[in-house]
Amino acid sequence: MNQQQAEKFYHKKMFDQKTNRLNTSCVKWDLRQQLFGGTDVLPMWIADMDFMAPPSVIDALVQRARHGVFGYSFVPDSYYAAIINWLQRRHGWQVEKEWLAQSPGIVPALCMLIRCFSAPGDKIIIQQPVYYPFSEIIALNDRVLVNNALKFDGQRYIMDFVELEQQLAAGAKIFIFCSPHNPVGRVWNKDELERVGQLCQKYNTLLISDEIHADLVYPDHKHIPIASLAKSFLNNIITCMSPSKTFNLAGLQAAYLIIPNAEMRKRYEKEQHSLCLNYPNNFGIVALEAAYNTAESWLDELLVYLAANLKYLTEFIVQYIPQIKVIHPEGTYLVWLDCRALGMNGTELKNFFYQEAKVALDIGDKFGAGGVGFARINIACPRELLVDGLQRIKDTIHAR
Ligand SMILES: Cc1ncc(COP(=O)(O)O)c(C=O)c1O
Repeated sequence: MNQQQAEKFYHKKMFDQKTNRLNTSCVKWDLRQQLFGGTDVLPMWIADMDFMAPPSVIDALVQRARHGVFGYSFVPDSYYAAIINWLQRRHGWQVEKEWLAQSPGIVPALCMLIRCFSAPGDKIIIQQPVYYPFSEIIALNDRVLVNNALKFDGQRYIMDFVELEQQLAAGAKIFIFCSPHNPVGRVWNKDELERVGQLCQKYNTLLISDEIHADLVYPDHKHIPIASLAKSFLNNIITCMSPSKTFNLAGLQAAYLIIPNAEMRKRYEKEQHSLCLNYPNNFGIVALEAAYNTAESWLDELLVYLAANLKYLTEFIVQYIPQIKVIHPEGTYLVWLDCRALGMNGTELKNFFYQEAKVALDIGDKFGAGGVGFARINIACPRELLVDGLQRIKDTIHAR
């Protein structure tokens, strides 16, 4: 067995390995009693993975921890280099060091951006059903939500460009774009991205592109950073990225933004400074660098494992739970399930999954109006857990 084969074998074993996450202040597992009414509920909700981070990232963190001094730090050049090389290698996008800014997370970054580039009462476009904090932060910041609802064409979700243009023309200040899209799993193609970019440019609307799921794309699809498509787009697009979904580092808070427009960058940095959020977390920096510099083969194996989990889920549901329809994702480890044929409203669906099947999925209505009757399942777990969760749903439906 050569080095490459050995790594593959080791990674495959790692993804199959069940890790006990109990008593680690883990939202997904340790809050089951409060959130779902029992500790016997299998959690397949919130977007983190039940896999250990790449071994090289763990080693780098242990080494940093052993140093033992955790004082204030700054963002080193090596951090910028790791991001620049990653974006070039994985996404073919050449970004400049000075375009980069950091944030503890993408949601905090979105909040700061909303505050920088809009005022209370301004309209902000999102595309529901979508990652629910988008609507929460719009409301919390007293902005007005404008929903450019995604449409299901029988196969996949698509954008309504006619309505989008009307909404932009009506004076929306910001469009928060989810690319790849959580929860519907679309990896937007070049044509779609060009239309979005051109429309925002035409109406001078700031496009904030949340690309946190950029690295998690299935074969036959390719993520394209929207800002990379045209030089002219760089002026009014801010891209938000992070290694947190890709390498399971959400608790380390190491997101970053790409803001090519110097004036906009200055405004963002001022906002960040005013909140004193400009000191990075020691461990976040170390983890990002280790992940981007040394864990690419781990990611490639992860993608193989996720594709196999997706295949298993799809075949299982087609065969045993035909009442549920899988909306086939092109990216992300989150799968959008059409449960409307079960004939349940939001509360009934919740009770069905949490109390009867004892599986915690994210119930669709929290993603906005278009989510009613749907649920989102997280398949980033060892196969054994996925099988357990699907079996529970199947048995409960069959027993009704
Ligand atoms: C689209 C999207 N944006 C942002 C986040 C969260 O980002 P962060 O933890 O960096 O705030 C998630 C997490 O699921 C997400 O799916």
